[in-house]
Amino acid sequence: MTNAKPIGLFYASTTGNTEDVAQLIADRLEPWVQVHDIAVEGVEAMQQYGCLIMGIPTWDYGELQEDWQECWQAIAAQNFVGKRVALFGLGDQMGYGEWFQDAMGELHQLLTSVGATLVVPWSVEGYRFEASRALTDDGRSFVGLALDEDGQHGVTEERLDQWIPQVCRAFDLPSDG
Ligand SMILES: Cc1cc2nc3c(=O)[nH]c(=O)nc-3n(C[C@H](O)[C@H](O)[C@H](O)COP(=O)(O)O)c2cc1C
Repeated sequence: MTNAKPIGLFYASTTGNTEDVAQLIADRLEPWVQVHDIAVEGVEAMQQYGCLIMGIPTWDYGELQEDWQECWQAIAAQNFVGKRVALFGLGDQMGYGEWFQDAMGELHQLLTSVGATLVVPWSVEGYRFEASRALTDDGRSFVGLALDEDGQHGVTEERLDQWIPQVCRAFDLPSDG
């Protein structure tokens, strides 16, 4: 079955921050995006889309958020060849700077291993952290949009304003940016 909307946004959220950001993204990408909470719907629907956005927070010193953890094997069993995926991660660089955004890095690795094409890396400029497993090989970028609602809530909207047009271009959708 194919979905009428070209982009599927899949997220999970323990305390609501990733959920809030998913909604901000959906508002900006209206009418192209369908939002899925994987804690409720699982990850089966990922196969309906050629373009995906995935949102993952890091928990417990570099660990996956629990709902993502539960879906991990199901994702590992899917084929993502030909699918484009843009990631966004939630983390706390001040409180957990040794593990900043690690889960986004883990998701990037998993998706790469099942054939996905990951799009829109994001510069590390403007962040302060000690270590992250979500960096590109040259260490200059994150593998997706890094958001920090705990310490940098004030720049989230601005970051989204820059990120969304890049995602649209990567997905061959019209963008105002
Ligand atoms: C107990 C605890 C552990 C956390 N561990 C990390 C971590 O290792 N790395 C990180 O970047 N953020 C960490 N965070 C910050 C969360 O990722 C951040 O608060 C995020 O916005 C939560 O998203 P959610 O509300 O969607 O679950 C941690 C937060 C808590 C409360």
